[in-house]
Amino acid sequence: MLQKFITRGYNNMTDFLPFALPDIGEEEIAEVMDSLRSGWLTTGPKAKRFEQDFAAFIGGGVEAIAVNSATAGLHLALEAVGINTGDEVITTPYTFTATAEVVRYLNAHPVFVDIDPNTFNIDPAKIEKAITPRTKAIIPVHFAGLACDMDRILKIARKHGLKVVEDAAHALPTTYNRKLIGTFDSDATVYSFYVTKTIATGEGGMVVLTNKQIAERCRVMRLHGINRDVFNRYSSKKPSWHYEVVAPGFKYNMTDIAASLGIQQLKKAGAFQKRRSEMAAYYDKAFDGLPVMLPPKAPEGDVHAWHLYVLRLGDEVSVSRDRFIELMAEKGIGCSVHFIPLHLQPYWRDTYNLKPRDFPNALAVYERAVSLPLYTKMSGKDQARVVDTIREILE
Ligand SMILES: Cc1ncc(COP(=O)(O)O)c(C=O)c1O
Repeated sequence: MLQKFITRGYNNMTDFLPFALPDIGEEEIAEVMDSLRSGWLTTGPKAKRFEQDFAAFIGGGVEAIAVNSATAGLHLALEAVGINTGDEVITTPYTFTATAEVVRYLNAHPVFVDIDPNTFNIDPAKIEKAITPRTKAIIPVHFAGLACDMDRILKIARKHGLKVVEDAAHALPTTYNRKLIGTFDSDATVYSFYVTKTIATGEGGMVVLTNKQIAERCRVMRLHGINRDVFNRYSSKKPSWHYEVVAPGFKYNMTDIAASLGIQQLKKAGAFQKRRSEMAAYYDKAFDGLPVMLPPKAPEGDVHAWHLYVLRLGDEVSVSRDRFIELMAEKGIGCSVHFIPLHLQPYWRDTYNLKPRDFPNALAVYERAVSLPLYTKMSGKDQARVVDTIREILE
């Protein structure tokens, strides 16, 4: 359904400007064709190469483990760091449901704390207040591609002996204190290559980490709990079909077809970010004087991945946010909202008895937020059209 929404009009050759589109070039197509011709459709040499390339891209001696989604990666990471029944994991309500649902996969409970209204990221001061004897981990989400305050989060985690699994679904490439997200002293960092993300493999994700034991557990659980080491260790007496299942694992491996896309997309990640950041600056300038609030910026010298450009309508704007999006759609422009905070969603609201005002900052941002189209396939003309349409609606 989402894919249909995203690409609506594009395939029909109407002038509908979709909210998001992947930027797939001839290099990606050639790499996929190469895999198809090789016969390696599932996990094989391309997945391995993508992992190596990704680890080299992040740097700092990390290991990279390719998976079929960020959701899978977050689940694997939490399982590997030992999250278990009854544990509490602190995270933000201003995220996609995947961030919190993986906690429930392990029969643990997400504990939501509000965002900082200046960054839309989890407020470290509120994390500390939410810690109980059951708290085991924190999942910071680098919303829209802007880094969380990792110094403060890691300090709190160390003080209380908590694990940290970073949700970096939006954050390739993002820096904090001039260092790439993925190189910090957390237990794991998880990226998404879903079709709308800054690099896309259709579906896909990557777990990045340095701890060898956690990495090994993620690898084993990624493929049915099969201890791959036996492949390397089996004696000449054991036949080649032999393997050992050491845990009830999952089916989270990345195919070589997806990895082919990833290998070529990763080479463009820097150029994509540069273009996205130019486009964000163009929007900022163009909205000068309009009754809107611009998205939070990265501190001087740091990189914002600009996965999303979230504009907020000022209080003086009489048209509602929902009506604004309808008007944009009527003019042929796809917009979205990131996010409907989790505490407003029926499952989370009812399971944890949450009220809209429990997280006033998340609620206030959400009520006026509109994500505008921002992707490298957009032309200057497309962007000018978005700006003109917004001016027309607001003036
Ligand atoms: C913040 C956040 N975390 C996790 C995910 C899950 O990513 P995936 O679709 O790769 O499982 C998303 C996807 O949109 C997301 O926005």
